[in-house]
Amino acid sequence: MVSREFQLSDQPVISFAGARGPGEGVVVVLAEDGPKFSPMAQDFDKKSKGLLTKAGELIGFKGKKDSYVNLLVPTGLNLSRLVVAGIGKPAEFGPEDWLNLGGCLRGALTGKEGQTAHVFLEIANGEVDTADVASFALGMLLRGYSFKKYKTTDKSKKAANELEKSLKKVVIHCADPRAATKAFATGQAIAHGVDVARDLVNEPANVLGPSEFAQRAKELTKVGVQVEVLNEPALKRLGMGALLAVGQGSDQPSHVVVMQWRGAGPKGGDPIVFVGKGVTFDAGGISLKPAAGMEDMKGDMAGAACVVGLMRTLAERKAKANVVGIIGLTENMPGGGAQRPGDVVKAMSGKTIEVLNTDAEGRMVLADCLWYAQQRFKPKAIVNLATLTGAVMVALGKEHAGLFSNNDGLSNKLLAAGTETGEKLWRLPLGPKYDKLIDSKVADIKNTGGRWGGSISAAQFLQRFIKDGMPWAHLDIAGTGMASADTDINRSWGPGFGVRLLDRFVRDQYERQ
Ligand code: BES
Ligand code: MN
Ligand code: ZN
Repeated sequence: MVSREFQLSDQPVISFAGARGPGEGVVVVLAEDGPKFSPMAQDFDKKSKGLLTKAGELIGFKGKKDSYVNLLVPTGLNLSRLVVAGIGKPAEFGPEDWLNLGGCLRGALTGKEGQTAHVFLEIANGEVDTADVASFALGMLLRGYSFKKYKTTDKSKKAANELEKSLKKVVIHCADPRAATKAFATGQAIAHGVDVARDLVNEPANVLGPSEFAQRAKELTKVGVQVEVLNEPALKRLGMGALLAVGQGSDQPSHVVVMQWRGAGPKGGDPIVFVGKGVTFDAGGISLKPAAGMEDMKGDMAGAACVVGLMRTLAERKAKANVVGIIGLTENMPGGGAQRPGDVVKAMSGKTIEVLNTDAEGRMVLADCLWYAQQRFKPKAIVNLATLTGAVMVALGKEHAGLFSNNDGLSNKLLAAGTETGEKLWRLPLGPKYDKLIDSKVADIKNTGGRWGGSISAAQFLQRFIKDGMPWAHLDIAGTGMASADTDINRSWGPGFGVRLLDRFVRDQYERQ
């Protein structure tokens, strides 16, 4: 097996320095609509006798957002490369824009022309906020991630040469480098959590089964999270008949992992609980999926991966909040012991479920985890994440995750965190008419509600395991949690969706004291 030491790290060391300074090697400066060059950009323009202005005119550069001037070995400047990045109108350039700019530049600065880059984050009138400087740096880290674990050829001489020529150091020049350094510590904690989630989602299912996943979650004890792994006998004793039924067709035992971070202490009161679907591979069970695209179902644990990544981030940045993470780990396979369509199983809550389609397994896993969460922890609120339905992709594509909730306040807080981080949510309805779709003739509830509104009936199923008055939200991340298109801040198949969103949600809603 390929071990981690062989991985080539692409991450440069990021540090912060004062707004001005001599540029050397690779330099990035900003320009606004006009183009109105930043003071540093103007300096370079003067020193080079108007090279920047001339080059800009040549390509019609107006300082607009997402436009660049790129000069290699500019005469008279003693630099290997000078990049002018347009940001449009600074007042309209939001936190997500700074994040994406960081990602985009990290992608552009390969290191070939110089291993050190100096980025001057200053605008013509006023300063760039510390929070925006930190977002920019976080964008760089997020873009730098890649999953190369199984690329044995990368250990070759060629790869060593490439590493030799990769970006080693980035100095970010800004108004308040001390404050930026501090804010960046949080950014690093976030990036580490996102990386943990990405690694888990990217890992193939022959390596990352339920036991290995539990083992990886256990590693959070190193950062101060209390981790318990419940094995199958324990799950049987608890009566988790729905979750166990899903794992029946697999040779690998199911697990539930409970992770606790009590950063607010006893005074912080009851925790907020995050629950994640962790189906390490979803073959569909006896209701077997078609072959085309089945390989993607190694990512059917993206909800659980997010919860583990989030706990890592919260612990690393010592969040002053009481948070519990619960993940249901199992594999949905069509083995001889597998559950059959038509089976009736009993969930931990006591409700009976008629299993019409064994491929609607995520809701069964979550049903028991949600019930366990409420019984054991009396949560302030519960948020679950799951790659639950293909239908949510039909509705929302890959831009928004589906949000379902019984609580407007909780919904709005999550929506706000989505807008702030760019991990966007879109609320979809729940209601009694939809709930009727999952009434069963032979049991209390059936596990599919038919084709129309498939994401909604899945959410209704989950709500049947939520007690009256418990604030609850369900995020359907089937479209956003795996098989991502490339973006400025993500080149990974598993994007680690939800870590930044929920870190922000916890920070804004539960840590204001
Ligand atoms: N894990 C899938 C949902 C999914 C599909 C996630 C595509 C990511 C990409 C889930 O377990 C599933 O199979 N759902 C079924 C439900 C149906 C049988 C009621 C679906 O969406 O087709
Ligand atoms: Mn399924
Ligand atoms: Zn699934």
